[in-house]
Formats: sequence, structure tokens, C-alpha cells
Amino acid sequence: MIVTYADIDGFKNLSGISFAPDLKYNIIVGPNAQGKTNLLEAMWILSGCRSFRGSKEKDYITIGGNRMSSKIKIHDGAREQKISIEMTRNASSPKQIVLNGVKQKGTRALFDVFKCIAFIPDDTEIIKGAPERRRNFIDMAASQLNPVFVVHINKHGAVMNQRNALLKEIMQGNAGADVLEVWDRQAAHEGTLISYMRNEYIARINDICGRLYRIISGGSEEMELEYRSSVFHPHDFERPCGDEAYEQYYRKLRESSEYDIRTGTTHIGVNRDEILIKINGLSARDFGSQGQIKSAALVMKLAQAEIYKTKSKDSPVVFLDDVMGELDEGRQRFVFDIIKDMQVFLTTPNESALLPEIKGKILRISGGRITDVSSHWE
Ligand SMILES: Nc1ncnc2c1ncn2[C@@H]1O[C@H](COP(=O)(O)OP(=O)(O)O)[C@@H](O)[C@H]1O
Ligand SMILES: [Mg+2]
Repeated sequence: MIVTYADIDGFKNLSGISFAPDLKYNIIVGPNAQGKTNLLEAMWILSGCRSFRGSKEKDYITIGGNRMSSKIKIHDGAREQKISIEMTRNASSPKQIVLNGVKQKGTRALFDVFKCIAFIPDDTEIIKGAPERRRNFIDMAASQLNPVFVVHINKHGAVMNQRNALLKEIMQGNAGADVLEVWDRQAAHEGTLISYMRNEYIARINDICGRLYRIISGGSEEMELEYRSSVFHPHDFERPCGDEAYEQYYRKLRESSEYDIRTGTTHIGVNRDEILIKINGLSARDFGSQGQIKSAALVMKLAQAEIYKTKSKDSPVVFLDDVMGELDEGRQRFVFDIIKDMQVFLTTPNESALLPEIKGKILRISGGRITDVSSHWE
């Protein structure tokens, strides 16, 4: 998949951005705070995902401005598609999403259209952050393969909110404990599906991470992912995802309900899962060096790209925000070898820190505008 055209205006500090990207490398260059990451972000939101740097939608529009629009054309080898998001401040319907000329109800419609993967410095949090970060990574990556997964995650989240609210009501004597049962049934249903999907994705990514980490570490280190389900043992997943599995999940929830009522929160289920990431047998989160954590995060993202590419027979578009300059030559080569047939948008304050073979379009950004477009080939 490639982006063939981008047009962005009024997104944060960006104005009047319009360009036809290189099929291969697009190098966005400029000093700090000029809008390099904003440019990636403005394209990224067209994937239907939330901002990769956690920006709120209300902050997308330029401060003091009234409107923002981000539009791209993409081509997947078969056909061209047009995606746009426009937002207007204080309008009755502030956000307009249009896919191939047809207005869409929500960003969900975009989820399956523009596939991209972003590498950002904050990715190291996947390794060293709270368990939620790893769960989110796996859930997002698995949803990219199978968008119906998002439906189950959202349903489970809604059921958990209800259950946790009820736990507090019961604790205060405003409701009887029997009301939990119907929610526990639903939680067990969604939770079991989520557990099986996580298990499957983790098994796949584990194989690839193992291979890639061996290469990036020069053959000297092993990386391994282990799914620690709060309900199921690894061998439980050998059994198909069916009634027996739901019952097991449901029973565990019931067993925990008394304690849950006393504490006002749910202690069992996919919201308590951990994905253990080990390097040479030790938890990378607890014992990894900075270099190991950086490499492991990079490998997780590269593995995600590889899985996606294999599944869809099409490559995702790759965004690299301020990560290449940070890597030594060997690691840069390793990354570019894996993403060599993908379209890349990368930002850097200093293009001379990049490998000489990274040639393509150079977009210079200053004050939210493209001030110069040149090509390495010229
Ligand atoms: N809603 C907004 N309106 C106007 N400017 C914004 C908005 N949000 C962020 N900015 C500005 O964008 C700039 C940061 O852009 P960014 O893309 O992060 O820079 P960099 O080139 O370092 O990646 C800052 O100057 C910031 O003030
Ligand atoms: Mg930046």
C-alpha cells in the first residue's frame, strides 16, 4: 500500500501541506517543533486509529483556527481510494469522515482501509510500561488482522464498566449480588474470545520476534513472549474456543466475585492479563538494559508489520518518527532490510544521520509548512 497524495490544512501547526509522496522514502526534515510529527500524525488519523502520541481530537484543529482537514489518496495495487477527515470547531457535527466520496458514521469505517504502522520513541513503553501497554499493543495488532476483534474488546470494556459499577452498588447495599450473574455471562463470553485471539496472535508474533531478535543481537540473545492469561493455562488453548472454555472463564469470575464486591473492582479476566517479554529467559521489563529494551520494542513493531504483510499480501505504510537517527548503523540496516519494500515516511532533525542508501523525497518543514521538496536522485 502506498500514499500517492496528501493534503493537510489546519491540523495543529500545519497549513497548506500538499504533496505527492515518493513511492519509497519520504524524509521529513526540520528543526524541533516545526511540525514533522504533526505531519505523520495528520496522515495516521486516517487509519481510523487514535493518535499515536495520544493527542485529543479537540486539539487537532490549529489553536485559534476553525477548521482542519486531512486528505490522502492511497493505492493498494488494485485501486485508488480517497480518505478524508475534516473537523470544524463548534459545528453541530464537528467531524466529517469521507471514504471514496461517501460520508461515514465513524472512524471505525477507516480501520480496514489505510494500514500503517508507526515507530515512535515511546514504543519502548511496550516493553517497560504497565501490562496495559502490552495488552493494547497485542489487541491493536490483532485487530489490524481481524477488525471484528475491536467489537469484542469494546463490548468487554462496556461489560466491565457495568460490572464494576454494580460491584460498588452491591458493596453499598444498593443492589443484590445476584445481579452480577448476567454481566458475568457476557464478560465470560467476550473475555474467552479475547483470550483465544490474544493467545493466537502472541504465538505468531513470538516466532517472528524470536527470529528477528536473534538477528538484531548478532545471534547472541533470545527473545520470547509468553501469554499469562489470568484465566487460562497455556494448555487450555489446545481445546477449541467453545462452551467448556466459557464455563471455565465464568466459574473463575464467580469465584472471584465476593472479593470483587469487597474491593469494588474485577480481579479476574482479560483486563488482568500479562504478556511477559523475556530476553535470555529474564523479564525484559525488570532486567532489560536500555539497548535491549529499544531493540525488543523495534522487533515487536517489525514483527507486527511482517504479520500484517503476510496476511494481507500488501505492505503497511511505515511511519518512523525520530527513531532512525537514534539507531546505530547496524540497527538501521536491520530495520531497512525488513521494511525495504514498504513506503516509508520518516522524520529526522538531521538527514546526515541516516544511512546513505536511504534515498527519496526530502520534505523540509518549517513553521508548519513545506518550504522545499527535493529528491536525492536529482
Ligand atoms: N493545536 C495546535 N495548534 C497550533 N499549533 C500546535 C497545535 N498543537 C501543537 N502545535 C505546535 O506544533 C509544534 C510541534 O510540532 P511537532 O510536529 O511535534 O514538531 P516536530 O517537528 O519537532 O516533530 C509546536 O510548535 C506546537 O506548539
Ligand atoms: Mg517530532
